[in-house]
Order: sequence, then structure tokens, then C-alpha cells
Amino acid sequence: MNKHKIKIGLFGFGNVGRGLHELLQNVPETNVEIAAVCVRNIGTRPADYPELKFTTSAKEVFDDPEVNLIVELIDDAEAAYDIVVTALRRQLPVVTGNKKMLARHLPELILLQKEMNTALLYDASACGSIPVIRNLEEYYDNELQISVKGILNGSSNFILSKIFNDGMDHQEALRLAREKGFLESDPTLDLDGWDSLFKLVILTLHAFGVYVEPEKIFTYGITYMTDADIRFALEKGRRVKLIGHAEKTRDGRLVLAVIPQLISKNKFIYSCEDEFNGVVIKGLFYGKQFLVGRGAGGHPTSSAVLSDISAIRYDYFYRYKRMKSGDLPHFTNDISFRAYVRYHDDSELDMIGFEDISERYISGDTRYVVGRVNLRRLHEIRSYLAERKIFIAAYPED
Ligand code: HSE
Repeated sequence: MNKHKIKIGLFGFGNVGRGLHELLQNVPETNVEIAAVCVRNIGTRPADYPELKFTTSAKEVFDDPEVNLIVELIDDAEAAYDIVVTALRRQLPVVTGNKKMLARHLPELILLQKEMNTALLYDASACGSIPVIRNLEEYYDNELQISVKGILNGSSNFILSKIFNDGMDHQEALRLAREKGFLESDPTLDLDGWDSLFKLVILTLHAFGVYVEPEKIFTYGITYMTDADIRFALEKGRRVKLIGHAEKTRDGRLVLAVIPQLISKNKFIYSCEDEFNGVVIKGLFYGKQFLVGRGAGGHPTSSAVLSDISAIRYDYFYRYKRMKSGDLPHFTNDISFRAYVRYHDDSELDMIGFEDISERYISGDTRYVVGRVNLRRLHEIRSYLAERKIFIAAYPED
């Protein structure tokens, strides 16, 4: 790649695309410039940004002889996939932030990168500004990895923080998150845990060398959380956080889930607030380490994009070292854990099939139990749980 000047073909000019443009204007010495921007609708952009060249034609960008790097920052996962594949086939390195596309297509994209000997970097896709993927690849690559878990979604954390710390109601907090540009265009991606799920799939591949299809992972969010659940958490001295969780069990199996969790004060992520993400990485010898930073918003995410662009300049690419290890853990949902479950009638409890119940509360319309549930069972009945608007949170002992 031309080390002297990077000329970007940029796809998408939303929050992150605009953030990247602004960032490049503030650090001109990077020797990186945007040669062309491909958008769906041009609108008033040429007048608003006369310094940039806009087009609606992807072909025009790919055929531009000046362009030597593609940056893909669009919302639509399938269109993003086509852009990434086209770029790699033309041996144009690519930086992308599209977690949904990566979570679905990573195995084939890994092969394609190798075949074309062309880099695909995507640190911006998981945890915004925190360089978690590159750390998993380069720093934590030798140790016996035990778990990677944390707050992987900035907007739901922002909403939970406003509810738990500022006493805002759910709707008010949601409005504020939208105003600040933290939410996906479809906010259920944030609130129901899907955005965290896509990031978890990506992180798991780099942490444990295992790709697990998103459909196999139990994913449940905060949409059905009510005042009763908030009260329960506060009475127990805990906060609700939406946690993406990947952990190797003692017998070498790999458990993954995205689920709200009642977090106690002694945990690092208890005080990870607002749009910040926090990832706790645990290894056999170093113990726990906590990476924290802004996980949503145009500026923080575009700084991760710029870091990947710079890495391409020195021919960096992910080596997927863990995938080559001979002893990969096997994914399973067959584990049980303690949970808090707010329900409406006993048939719902029968459906969940608790292994035991240690606490039960009924008063007026509010009913909850604390007990042990099986993750595989929850995964099987996920749509039932959502239809019945049941709220579930993991409730660890400590
Ligand atoms: N909506 C996402 C979040 C943006 O809130 O984390 C960054 O992926």
C-alpha cells in the first residue's frame, strides 16, 4: 500500500462518517484524506461539505484510481457485506464498523482476506473507542483466557445510568439517548441486546478463537424492565447493567449470553456509566483487567476508525492466532445460573422450569422469584419470554 498518502473511498456519511471527516480536518498531518464519499441520497451535502466529493455510485468509488483504502460505515449489513467483499476482491484494504455484518459473515471474510492477502480491520465495530480487539489479538494472545464480559452497548448503558442515577423514567432516558445520537436507527437493536450480541460474537472469536452463530446465543435486553425491577435492584444495593458474557468453564466449554445482570458494588462495571463501555478480560495468571471508554457516538467511534486506517498504513492485519490453537473450547448453552425473574402468572414459571427457587414475592401486580434457571431452556423459549414481557436478570451471588 502507498505509505505516503492514504486516499479513502468512504461509504456512508452518518454520525461516524461525519466524525471521521471532522477528525481528519483536525489532524491533517495524518496524511490521510477522503477521496470520495458514497451515500444513498446526496441531498444538500455538496453545499454543506464543498471540500468533499459525493456520489451515489459505488462503482465510481471502486473505479477511482486514487482510492487505495475503503472505509465502510453504513447501516445496512447486507450492503456493507457487498462493499467489503468487492473491496477485498480488488485487493483494497477495508476498515469497517459494521458489527452485524461481521457477526454474520466473519468466517468467510477471514478466508477471503487470506486468499486476497488484503487487510480487513474493524476495531470500531466493538466497544467504540476502546481498542479491545487489537488487545485481544496482540496482548492477550498467549495467556489462558477465562472470560471476556462487560457492557458492550453504550446507549442502553446511558439509559440505565439515567434511570439508576438520575431517577429518569425509561422513556425520558430513551429520548435523551436518541438526541445524543447514541442509538441505532432501530433502537430495539440496542435495547433488546442484539447490538451487544454482534459485538460479543466478534470479541469471542478474537478471545477464544471460536465463531458462534448469533442465533445460538441467548440474548435478552432491558425492554421489559419496570419500576418494580429497578426497586428490587436498589433494595439489594445493585444496579442493572446489560452484559455480554463469554466464559470458558472449568471443563473447557464456552458459554455465551447477553442478559441484564444485577451488578454489585464490588464489580468494576458497577461504576461504568453513561455511554461508556466497560470490558473485563480475565486470564488465568494476570487475573482481571478492565478496559473502559466511550462506546457510542460519532467522535469516539471515528477515532477507532482512524486508528485502523493508520494500522493499515504499516500493513497490520489480524492474525486470528487463537483460531489456530489446537484446543478450542466447545460452545454450550447447557449451564444453570441464579436469576431474578419478574412474571405474571404461575404458568410462566412452569414454562421456565426453575431448578430451584430461593425467594418468592407476590404483592398486587408485582410477582418475582429468584432461583436457578437453565440457559438452554431460556434460549428455547426466548420469544415466549418476550411476548409475555417477562423481565429476567442474572443475579450472581457476589
Ligand atoms: N448503538 C451503539 C451503542 C453504537 O449504543 O453502543 C455503537 O455500536
